[in-house]
Amino acid sequence: MKLQYGRVIQDGLDGTHGLPRRRLDELARRFGAIQAEVRERREAGEYGFYGLARQENTVRQIAAFAEGLGQAHDHVLVLGIGGSALGARALLSALRPPAWNELDDEAREFFPRLTLLDNVDPTSVAAALRRIDPRRVLVNVISKSGGTAETLAQYLVVRKWLDDALGGAASRHLVFTTDPERGALRELATSEGIATLEVPPDVGGRFSVLSPVGLLPAALVGIDIAALVAGAARAVATAEEGDLLKNPAALFAALHWAADTQLGARVHVVMPYSDRLRDVAEWFRQLWAESLGKRVDREGQVVHTGPTPVASVGATDQHSQVQLFMEGPFDKLITFVTVADPGEDVLIPVLEGMPEEVACLGGRTLGELLQAEYEATSAALAQMGRMNSTIALSDLAAQSVGELLMFFQLATGYAGCWYGVNPFDQPGVELGKRLTFGALGRVGYEPPAPPLDADADTA
Ligand code: PA5
Repeated sequence: MKLQYGRVIQDGLDGTHGLPRRRLDELARRFGAIQAEVRERREAGEYGFYGLARQENTVRQIAAFAEGLGQAHDHVLVLGIGGSALGARALLSALRPPAWNELDDEAREFFPRLTLLDNVDPTSVAAALRRIDPRRVLVNVISKSGGTAETLAQYLVVRKWLDDALGGAASRHLVFTTDPERGALRELATSEGIATLEVPPDVGGRFSVLSPVGLLPAALVGIDIAALVAGAARAVATAEEGDLLKNPAALFAALHWAADTQLGARVHVVMPYSDRLRDVAEWFRQLWAESLGKRVDREGQVVHTGPTPVASVGATDQHSQVQLFMEGPFDKLITFVTVADPGEDVLIPVLEGMPEEVACLGGRTLGELLQAEYEATSAALAQMGRMNSTIALSDLAAQSVGELLMFFQLATGYAGCWYGVNPFDQPGVELGKRLTFGALGRVGYEPPAPPLDADADTA
């Protein structure tokens, strides 16, 4: 994995925009203090996700557990939201063939189908339960706190559906992934003898993709979770490098922070040129937003800081957002993700009589076209003075995906220090959770305040 950052620097752009090269030297000089802070905080137990790169025993246990369960069920239904859902979705899209649930048993190598519900939209939940056979399903309920309203509501609906179909056998179709001690799910598991996996207490939701939160669903559909974790270990090893320019995760963080705070580039786009990485971009969006968007800094000063992450996909969004990226405000840093060997390619046939202006497509491959689209977009943006960098992956094997996911988490950990905020809390999300329970009338919880304006319903 490489981070190509030349087009973030002024002399790699139009000579006017971008970070002056001397700024890069300043960042490199300050990096020693940033790295020391990360190390100190790691020792104090804050950066628990680093430990997910060293968990051979857990990986073996999850793989064995999944093998038994996977053989007994042909559908996995995952219930969760936010950090308890986005990672599993990213792994499934990146590492299993597209349209997984539409493939027959043989094409899926007899691994189960997987449906992930990360909302309480009644139409999606009802449709999923109509589609799935409760006799053949394994339901993995994922919630670190064990008390998130959406996930618990999903659970109650699904539990009744299981009870109605299976009676006393329902609990054998359930696995909870939750905190080892606290929360409603843990209580339910203990009282009903439901199987559980533990979310390590020092790993927060959005940093948990490489914990049992992401690893169990991944292993159930046949993803090589040992390779994923090995990739993550590679990223952690690289992130120990003391020279900023040889430490891609730290460099990603430093460049984004400097672009935001010095050049006003507070919109951070991640744009893979790969459909399989679309959900990785969505996962990154949550990681970056929830970790860095904060009201107060580490000192308790009100700062209202944080970049706005945007998920995009090439070449699709060249026809949707790229006009804005090229000519709109100079408020963005765009990171492309490219994959040298996508594992499959399709020849564009040569057809007699094709008009000359499009005839050059014939005889090339779709992969070549995608690569050309990326190169052209990156170069055109640079010509327009628009900062862009590229994460270049060699392939989309489990190891590379594990490395990429850990890379983004490490970058977020470093970015927390550059921004001076705690990347591991989410008081804003917690407030919304409390007010939701208040709105539902839970004793001891305030309901949300009514809107200031009267309803403008003129019908
Ligand atoms: O990253 C986070 O902490 C959040 O996005 C949580 O993952 C999300 O709110 C769900 O929480 P829980 O796993 O406790 O149900």
